[in-house]
Amino acid sequence: MTTGAAQGRLEILDDAEAVARWSADLLVERATASPRPFVVALSGGSTPRRLYEILAGGDYAQRLPWDRMRLCFGDERCVPPTEADSNYAMVNQALLSKVPVPPENVFRMPTDGDPAEAAWRYARDLRTLYGADGLQPGRPLFDVVLLGLGENGHTASLFPGTDVLDETEAWVGSCQPHDAPHERLTLTYPAIASSAAVLFLVTGAGKAPVVRAVRDGDVSLPAARIRSEGELVWVLDRAAAGTTQSG
Ligand code: 6PG
Repeated sequence: MTTGAAQGRLEILDDAEAVARWSADLLVERATASPRPFVVALSGGSTPRRLYEILAGGDYAQRLPWDRMRLCFGDERCVPPTEADSNYAMVNQALLSKVPVPPENVFRMPTDGDPAEAAWRYARDLRTLYGADGLQPGRPLFDVVLLGLGENGHTASLFPGTDVLDETEAWVGSCQPHDAPHERLTLTYPAIASSAAVLFLVTGAGKAPVVRAVRDGDVSLPAARIRSEGELVWVLDRAAAGTTQSG
């Protein structure tokens, strides 16, 4: 079974805070139930920051099995990990610096050197984590992949008009978006598809049109080509779901 973005089920919550809390509850529930290392690909951008802050908070932080968590990244800007534009910097400030996750359980995307070579290095790290060189159906690389959605339909750093959209073998690629700063590393479609669950976390009325277009199957939008071999869930607030308009 695979689930495409257009088939993903909807979880519509009242507001962004409820989206973050619902997502935190799902992660805690699944991570604590997992008998083996629980592998998550974290999203960058602003939307998931609140989720990370909640996970770092007392009751959640104490419930998560940090020693069994493996925290990867869905994408990264090719900037130093201390820079404000770094996804790692945001996750570190909101979460990693506040919880007892062993450093060896955090798989930061390398941002030094040539981006294509850095992508190869990260893919090597993921293969080591996975324990095989090829993705095996029925044995997902990730337990959960967190994704955001840009108004141009990008997700992770799968941007419109970039060659990485055509990557069908490599697990990690690099790209220079035409309409966003920095060269980037990103998980590719096959890597994201090797997941037990993909969660799209999307909030705000500004995203309602692109959510609708992606769910309508507009494959000109990179997010519309996202699949999971497990489940795919749209975790939306009412504004992004377009259900706040009266009448
Ligand atoms: C990034 C993210 C990117 C993000 C979307 C949505 O590196 O910026 O991976 O894909 O999820 O751009 O960003 P917001 O959550 O800030 O709207």
